[in-house]
Amino acid sequence: MQSERETTRFIETNRLIEQTFGRPKRLLEIGSAEGHQSSYLADICDQLVSTDVSQRALTRARRRCPSGTFLLGDVLSDGGDLVHFPIIRNQPAPPPDHPMRGYPLGGREGVRAGADFNRTENALALDNFDLVVACEVLYYVSDVPSALKRMERLGQNCLVTFCDRESQAMLEHMRPVPLAGKDLIRHGETSWHVMWWQSREPFTKVADCVASPGL
Ligand SMILES: C[S@@+](CC[C@H](N)C(=O)[O-])C[C@H]1O[C@@H](n2cnc3c(N)ncnc32)[C@H](O)[C@@H]1O
Repeated sequence: MQSERETTRFIETNRLIEQTFGRPKRLLEIGSAEGHQSSYLADICDQLVSTDVSQRALTRARRRCPSGTFLLGDVLSDGGDLVHFPIIRNQPAPPPDHPMRGYPLGGREGVRAGADFNRTENALALDNFDLVVACEVLYYVSDVPSALKRMERLGQNCLVTFCDRESQAMLEHMRPVPLAGKDLIRHGETSWHVMWWQSREPFTKVADCVASPGL
């Protein structure tokens, strides 16, 4: 059950996104958890792609927000220049009306089975976003500056939120980032920082996806 406090945060985050960016065509949500915020984000963009490192959370998120594309993996913490993204395994082949179905693919990359599809889908789905958001996620990341850079490589604009209680370290991490804007969302005693900026990194196409053992 979603609390009033969380509902306020989702509504206000949406309001700031719409006010600042209009209606993003493609929005990437990093750390969707069970999709509570995804349902809100899906309303204000044309296409929502969400990622999380928890398969269980994603299963619930897919049910909660059927219009989103939910991908398992960590786009924030991997090393190297390219964004590597684990393949989702053991998923059924896409339904006939899935937006990625029938995407023109050559040779052995053809959409034949779920596994092939997922490899391709991940690469396509992680292409060039108008906006990349990481809400209440960066606390979990060991190397925040790299994670911020990684967000910039995936899209043209980035937005993060973090709770005021946790803000000391986060504000420090955000200090070198040339913000385009910032705001504070309040609910009772709680407040959240919202910060957004334009990407300074060249867009990095997801050239390949690597299988991640154990997923
Ligand atoms: C507190 S929840 C935030 C959920 C939602 N964004 C919100 O604001 O309500 C944090 C989520 O981030 C996920 N997460 C942590 N590290 C991540 C990473 N490197 N990449 C993607 N998701 C991550 C966790 O699995 C968890 O589901």
